[in-house]
Amino acid sequence: MSAETVTLQHVGKTWCPVGRPSVEALRDFSIDIEPGEFIVLLGPSGCGKSTLLYMLAGLEDISTGTIREGGREITGPSPDRGLIFQEAALFPWLTIAQNVSFGLSIQGLGSKECEQRARELLRSVGLGGLMDKKPDELSGGMRQRAACARALAMRPKLLMMDEPFAALDVQTRAKMQDFLLQLWQDSGASIVLVTHSIDEAIALADRVVVFTARPGTVKTIVPIDIPRPRASRDPRVHELRDQFTELLADEVDRAFAEQEAL
Ligand SMILES: Nc1ncnc2c1ncn2[C@@H]1O[C@H](COP(=O)(O)OP(=O)(O)O)[C@@H](O)[C@H]1O
Ligand SMILES: [Mg+2]
Repeated sequence: MSAETVTLQHVGKTWCPVGRPSVEALRDFSIDIEPGEFIVLLGPSGCGKSTLLYMLAGLEDISTGTIREGGREITGPSPDRGLIFQEAALFPWLTIAQNVSFGLSIQGLGSKECEQRARELLRSVGLGGLMDKKPDELSGGMRQRAACARALAMRPKLLMMDEPFAALDVQTRAKMQDFLLQLWQDSGASIVLVTHSIDEAIALADRVVVFTARPGTVKTIVPIDIPRPRASRDPRVHELRDQFTELLADEVDRAFAEQEAL
């Protein structure tokens, strides 16, 4: 195990909302995330995928178990761990260049340096000509690229993405996946990406963690060692698609049955 491995051991989370029944979202979840690894979390909705990311990000306390990074327990957020949501959470009143340099200025970088780093990053995500635009002047795909640039500005060791491309059309989504693979290779960061798209999981992951229905736990972990880019007509991709469809079908049925019983 490397020094920077992120280790989750027997992680559990029960939400206890005030005035409502408590919800066991996760149970006994264990995995090691190796440096530079691309992990995809795949599972039916409501199985605790977002919950797991919040805890990895240090934004929520865990109920049981431990999460360690390089042997140290994760107890709060850190610039080493960036989180990107489905809808890019950019400040609408700032230009995208200002959005990207914002985090850097909090970290104490001088304004000239912030500006320069923001420009480099936005160029690297193909937004070099749009730095002075506000978020609502950009398309959904461009906003997500700006959000990636902002997260990468902090040079995180671990980038967490919660269904980052779910709101995008199919063609933009495929382009964003290629773009993300490039960023990942250039940055050397580990990525943990949540999706409910089987094809997205197969296109991206070194390992796919299939969740059970709630309480979410590891149903199985499937390594994918097909070189990228992975052609959808590759017979190995077909085989994986069938395998994941079958693995998920049971869990989706279980999740549905439970929702109907409520
Ligand atoms: N802040 C919260 N307070 C109470 N319950 C929550 C909270 N966040 C999530 N949950 C519950 O935890 C379960 C898992 O949710 P979530 O992690 O969002 O699932 P997923 O991302 O896999 O769709 C759901 O039953 C959800 O209602
Ligand atoms: Mg979610």
